[in-house]
Amino acid sequence: MPPPAAQIFGNLSVWASFPAFVLYYLFYSSFEFNDPEGRVTDTTTFLNEYDFIVIGAGSTGAVVANRLTEVDDWKVLLLEAGGDETIVSDVPGLAHHLQRTNIDWSYKTVPQSGACLAFNDNRCIWPRGKVLGGSSVLNYMVYARGNKNDYDQWALDNPGWSYDDVLPYFIKSEDNRNPYIAANKKYHGTGGYLTVQEPEYKTPLVTAFIQGGVEMGYENRDCNAEKQTGFMIPQATSRRGARCSTAKAFLRPIRKRPNLSISMRSLAHRIVIDPATKRATAARFEKGGKIYQVKAKKEIIVSAGTVNSPQLLMLSGIGHADHLGSFGIPLMADLPVGDNLQDHIALGGMVFRMDQPFGVTEARYYSIPVILNYTINAAGPLTSLGGTEGVAWIKTKYAPEGDWPDIQYHFVSATPASESGLFFRYNTGVRDDIWNAYYQPLVNTDMWQLIPTLLRPLSRGTIRLASNDPHAAPVIDPKYFTDDAGMDLKTLIEGTKFALALSKTEAFRQVGSKFYDKIFPGCENFTPWTDDYWGCFIRHYSTAIYHMAGTCKMGSDPATAVVDSKLKVHGIGGLRVADCSIMPNVVSGNTNVPAIMIGEKVSDMIKALWLI
Ligand SMILES: Cc1cc2nc3c(=O)[nH]c(=O)nc-3n(C[C@H](O)[C@H](O)[C@H](O)COP(=O)(O)OP(=O)(O)OC[C@H]3O[C@@H](n4cnc5c(N)ncnc54)[C@H](O)[C@@H]3O)c2cc1C
Ligand SMILES: *[C@@H]1O[C@H](CO)[C@@H](O)[C@H](O)[C@H]1NC(C)=O
Ligand SMILES: *[C@@H]1O[C@H](CO)[C@@H](O)[C@H](O)[C@H]1NC(C)=O
Repeated sequence: MPPPAAQIFGNLSVWASFPAFVLYYLFYSSFEFNDPEGRVTDTTTFLNEYDFIVIGAGSTGAVVANRLTEVDDWKVLLLEAGGDETIVSDVPGLAHHLQRTNIDWSYKTVPQSGACLAFNDNRCIWPRGKVLGGSSVLNYMVYARGNKNDYDQWALDNPGWSYDDVLPYFIKSEDNRNPYIAANKKYHGTGGYLTVQEPEYKTPLVTAFIQGGVEMGYENRDCNAEKQTGFMIPQATSRRGARCSTAKAFLRPIRKRPNLSISMRSLAHRIVIDPATKRATAARFEKGGKIYQVKAKKEIIVSAGTVNSPQLLMLSGIGHADHLGSFGIPLMADLPVGDNLQDHIALGGMVFRMDQPFGVTEARYYSIPVILNYTINAAGPLTSLGGTEGVAWIKTKYAPEGDWPDIQYHFVSATPASESGLFFRYNTGVRDDIWNAYYQPLVNTDMWQLIPTLLRPLSRGTIRLASNDPHAAPVIDPKYFTDDAGMDLKTLIEGTKFALALSKTEAFRQVGSKFYDKIFPGCENFTPWTDDYWGCFIRHYSTAIYHMAGTCKMGSDPATAVVDSKLKVHGIGGLRVADCSIMPNVVSGNTNVPAIMIGEKVSDMIKALWLI
């Protein structure tokens, strides 16, 4: 489907808001101009050699660049393929408008046989940030740390990564601005670079959500502290009503450090490895049509994310020998790069209607008073996390004993049919026949949805090269719902049934909530509301929650892992990987803050090695 530009610009409500966006722009630029934490400058000349080169300025890379340049005599070059953030990416309420723009790599998976069946060619959309701040610029800003057991499980094979080991690093980054949460000092911190706070705007719906959870036997709690199981209003990585990306948090305040050079629109082609010593010596990258090769005296840290870190390693000769051989890439280390791909697959299309005016609609989000209120007071709907008002972690009958939930919910006062759906259809590639039959009749009405999300998938996918051209997108095959026992689908079916039960609690009845019970196109052959019906619905409207992880797995055995517990690539000197790709198992929650924690931790490991 081509960009629906004609349709967007034919849309009256967008034009009606135009003067307000102009005003917003004026306020915004004056604010930017005076902001003590103004934007970074782009390096255009390069030294022959730096102490460290960090590749990728995303959630992890921005942190690493910051912490390494705390050492006065370390020169650091940070390479980022994308440019700077935009005024649109700053507004939390516009989070859903960022995908498939020029700050997104706009990846798609290969066709899936048992998932994403409602989307064109059975391909799932995989947004990834291509911008300073990486995916922390595209994300929905939910602040979550995962479960204690996740880290204790990592630590079985990776000393130093238990929950007790990583907790101080979560706290180190944090500047928690909600006193009722910050007061819990065992788990929370203030004064760090990363601003964390609840969104200013909420609708009464979120009260129904929390109350409904209580009716179902769950507590309203801070799910980032003593226990995870429960319901909460999310804290967000936001500051004064605007997005607090890692570029804003970790790079802007230190942009004047003389030993930090940040180069944007710089695509790393490969890491140069000396075949004799098996040591990473330099990074080759492209900027403005020119190729540069810059040496690293001490180390190169690859923080290009779960899709691009394995791609870059493979382009550099690190990966499965036969796969690299088929592209004529000389082998430097035979490692399982690109294996172990995991993602939090979810059901994204479940709709509940209501008779109260609380849903996201164009009139409610893009009117002139709303935009002015945002500009002047940093208040109102545009501070909401794209409508994400609540989060919860629950246990299905398959969950292990104790506090280790297997389903997470994102509670959103919006659905695929909120607004006219134009951006949404373009973003997701939902099939026209499905859109027209199921969602079109709901456009701009009051709705909400629960997105049941599978926290610990058993299915494993792969990232592979499509070509040895660094500009070519890699081949992404998440292999959703392919685990032998079918537990991924079974667990998500339980999560879906719980969502339906939650919608029937007294709290939700009071807002006139009702499940939209039209049969999903393609699932007509199943008896409605049986497990098989829900399974069909899930296989059709499968949605990535964009928490991909695991493709440069951390572990002690080079047969199954790419990096060791110090995040050093097995068998290669002077090279580490640090980002979500190192997670042996994806954490049981959103992945931005864990990626930031990984950046904090690897920086200390690097300092521990070189500063003695
Ligand atoms: C739409 C969306 C919504 C999300 N919502 C949430 C949420 O609400 N809460 C949450 O916690 N998490 C959320 N996530 C997930 C979270 O944002 C990511 O897991 C996290 O940002 C990943 O961090 P990373 O450091 O691994 O990679 P990234 O942040 O993606 O960083 C990788 C960086 O490397 C750059 N790069 C890649 N290749 C090259 C190259 N060859 N040369 C130079 N640079 C390169 C990229 O441009 C990018 O800037 C969301 C993600 C998306 C996309
Ligand atoms: C690094 O920055 C410090 C100031 O913070 C400066 O004194 C020092 O000379 C710089 N070192 C290099 C190698 O440029
Ligand atoms: C601005 O936002 C605040 C907080 O959400 C709200 O109380 C107020 O009514 C809004 N004002 C306008 C004009 O929308």
